[in-house]
Amino acid sequence: MEQTFIMVKPDGVEQAVIGQIISRFEAKGYQLVHASVLTISEELAKKHYEAHKDRDFFDDLVSFITSGPVFPMVWQGENIIEEARELIGATNPKEAKAGTIRADFGTSISNNVIHGSDSKENAIREIDLFFHS
Ligand code: RTP
Ligand code: MG
Repeated sequence: MEQTFIMVKPDGVEQAVIGQIISRFEAKGYQLVHASVLTISEELAKKHYEAHKDRDFFDDLVSFITSGPVFPMVWQGENIIEEARELIGATNPKEAKAGTIRADFGTSISNNVIHGSDSKENAIREIDLFFHS
């Protein structure tokens, strides 16, 4: 059974939409395996977003993700990595399809409410970083 790493970002926690986000995954029949609430360290943020370390938005990304509590989760189900990305929507909320989490709750490309792993390899890496390190 496939697992993926999903995280409500500080803007989603602030907007109090954790419950609505969980409901969308539950409605798809997926199972919640792990969850926690924490404000992440700069060190963990830099590891999580390692792939973006040379991008000009990297420092802003790290500042934002460490700016308040986040809600990391592991979800399980068939084809969940790809399906979760569908539920989440495009990176920029303005380009995200109607009914997706980012279209409904996101306010900008940086304040886009939620993270979801983009591949099996990254799902394993991110689950390990947040729940097994
Ligand atoms: P995520 O990793 O958070 O699930 O988002 P994603 O796959 O849709 O987007 P990704 O390319 O992995 O980018 C990670 C996060 O960086 C911010 N970003 N800012 N200013 C920009 O041009 C820009 N591009 C990306 C977004 O907040 C994105 O979620
Ligand atoms: Mg990504």
